[in-house]
Amino acid sequence: MSKTISFHLQKGGVGKTTISGTISCQSAMQGAKTILVDLDPQGNASSWFLIDKTKYEVSDVLQGRCFIHEAVVPVRSMKNLYILPSFGIGGDLKKYGEQVIKSEPYVIFDLVKQLSKEYDHIVLDLSPGLGNLETSALIASDEIITPMTPEIFSLDGLEIFIHELEGIKKRFNSSVVHNKVIINSFDERIEQHKEILRVALKGEYSIYKIAVDPVFRKSQESHTAPQLFKMRGKGLKKQTLRSITEISQNIWS
Ligand SMILES: Nc1ncnc2c1ncn2[C@@H]1O[C@H](COP(=O)(O)OP(=O)(O)O)[C@@H](O)[C@H]1O
Ligand SMILES: [Mg+2]
Repeated sequence: MSKTISFHLQKGGVGKTTISGTISCQSAMQGAKTILVDLDPQGNASSWFLIDKTKYEVSDVLQGRCFIHEAVVPVRSMKNLYILPSFGIGGDLKKYGEQVIKSEPYVIFDLVKQLSKEYDHIVLDLSPGLGNLETSALIASDEIITPMTPEIFSLDGLEIFIHELEGIKKRFNSSVVHNKVIINSFDERIEQHKEILRVALKGEYSIYKIAVDPVFRKSQESHTAPQLFKMRGKGLKKQTLRSITEISQNIWS
């Protein structure tokens, strides 16, 4: 059965795109037919995995301007991975999200339903907001996983998100699961990071950690999967690979 995951916190720079992309690659590498849907109007996930601009973007599908298969692009050098892109500049996902999704909150749900006939794993990459577009994506997901950085403001963000998600679940009668948090860019040598971890562990959440690893940024700059990126023979740290494998196993099982 197909499963849909969103990585979300209404905060920028916490690693939503990095983790969405990395977990999508991991899923594809493990043999699951996987699609990464770029629902962030900035199109970061698309510019990470695609070099050339595509003919269509996800908002063209949502507005019936093309079929899903016309907009989906296979990711170069990553068997089993596909992306439904967003243009960033020149795209109209933001406008569509602001103007249309309010009256049609189930459009992403319908898109996911179509995708689930063809893909085993669906990953939605969202922008930092919590507007109509993000709400629509969250209620279309089976599970939401929150990435956060080890800062006090991220803990505040998590608390606000938990509160807002409760409201969304009630409003849309949604049973989406939210019980995992990833502390990204974690450094156990830093006392403040350990303190954030202690506070986070007091909640009812399973906590995962991903360390700072420069390969993420470098792989994004070179349009490749972090798992495949090598510079002078070196790729992701062993510890990072262990974290990704652990998270991936727990998400899709
Ligand atoms: N674990 C990490 N180690 C090092 N750099 C990271 C890590 N996670 C994310 N980054 C970098 O941080 C920046 C912001 O990450 P991004 O995934 O774009 O955040 P978001 O999607 O939440 O805005 C990017 O430049 C990315 O390469
Ligand atoms: Mg992002």
